[in-house]
Amino acid sequence: MVGKVRQSIVSTIPHDLHRRRRAPMGKYFSKSNIRRLDSTIQENLAKFLERLENSRSSQEVIPLTHAFRALTCDIITSYSFGACSDFLSREDYNGPLWEAVYSSTKLGHWIEHIGWLGPLIEALPKQVIASMSPGWGSLSRLEDQWDIQIRGIQESKSYQDPRNCEKTILHGLLNSDLPDSEKAASRLHQEARLLFLAGTDGTAITLSTIIYHLLSNPSMLDRLKDELVNAMPDPDALPTGAQVGHLPYLTAIIQEGLRIRPPPVRQTRVAPNEELHFHTPDKDWVVPKGTPVTMTARLLQRHPDIFPDPTTFKPERWLGNPRLDKYLIAFSKGTRICLGMNLAYEEMYLVLASVFRKYDLVGGSDRGRKMALYETTERDIAMVADHLAWLPPAGSKEVRITVS
Ligand code: HEM
Repeated sequence: MVGKVRQSIVSTIPHDLHRRRRAPMGKYFSKSNIRRLDSTIQENLAKFLERLENSRSSQEVIPLTHAFRALTCDIITSYSFGACSDFLSREDYNGPLWEAVYSSTKLGHWIEHIGWLGPLIEALPKQVIASMSPGWGSLSRLEDQWDIQIRGIQESKSYQDPRNCEKTILHGLLNSDLPDSEKAASRLHQEARLLFLAGTDGTAITLSTIIYHLLSNPSMLDRLKDELVNAMPDPDALPTGAQVGHLPYLTAIIQEGLRIRPPPVRQTRVAPNEELHFHTPDKDWVVPKGTPVTMTARLLQRHPDIFPDPTTFKPERWLGNPRLDKYLIAFSKGTRICLGMNLAYEEMYLVLASVFRKYDLVGGSDRGRKMALYETTERDIAMVADHLAWLPPAGSKEVRITVS
């Protein structure tokens, strides 16, 4: 069962405390440090591509969204703890774990309004939780593992070695100048939980949404493949961020994926010292200072005045149109902007470039390997409810593919 993250940065309301907590984590996600992570991303990407390759002869159906969760989870756990979750080695990509995460996020609204429910669930013995479903068992074991890792780093004092601090976020947090109370195992556990949740699902969902659209639009895929052939002469070599991070059509595709299916999470803010003025055609509104306000990227990113034909996936809208960039708020803006944005972009560039340099649509012009959607329709990428996570419609198996 996904537990609370109340002491993690995302739930820290006072501005100064948030800034102090975020600072030692922030440097791990700078553009230059994420570029240095390319080899870790490539190592895991190679495992992912090998699984695709192995499924060619067996015609196995690949649950792509779960496979991307396994990939992104293996990357963020390596970076957070120096110990990879290794979900890519599991036959089912540990999909049941994510089904358990989703079913527990469905309880979120109840927990918010019924004060005693959250603490009651947190207090349930681990064995009870584990017996409820294989996914919850797996999640509970993962959480135990983080405790062991946090305690191990604390007791061995391995965080005092700068080489470890360069490699993993938890070492860096323990070696930071945060006061000892901020380094308590229970708080670090919550940051670990946040990194695991935030660092996995969003990127996996965006990637599978983009792949759904590309496999449904042959002319877009052709255009992307032309760009990739020029940038990556060898189809089997793994790309670097420097090689593909500037490609215009690939960039437009990623922007469009983020636009069309942003996270449902509401971005909450308080302007403590100023009134906010908001104009609608028939009225001017004033929001008094200190009033909590929220909004969601989906409303802005699907506004037809800014993005005509908003429900259609159209990467071309971004080309030669930098005016639009400011309306892309899938990662939010300001001091609470997504901490992992550079990592998410790097993963998306490397994954999409390597997958589509290798694979084409069945019937496409490339005579190499082929990829096709399997029993996946627009419904499988629809968002039907806001439970903080992007919940698929009931019964959906999300995006699935076969390769040949
Ligand atoms: C496409 C992928 C992703 C999207 C669309 C996304 C989006 C967001 C959004 C909208 C927020 C809330 C910002 C706010 O409160 O206004 C957020 C926060 C956050 N994200 Fe991401 N995210 C993605 C990937 C990642 C990755 C890969 C990580 C890596 C660990 C990550 C870590 C975080 C963290 C730690 C926060 C809390 C930041 C804070 O409160 O200071 N995210 N993200």
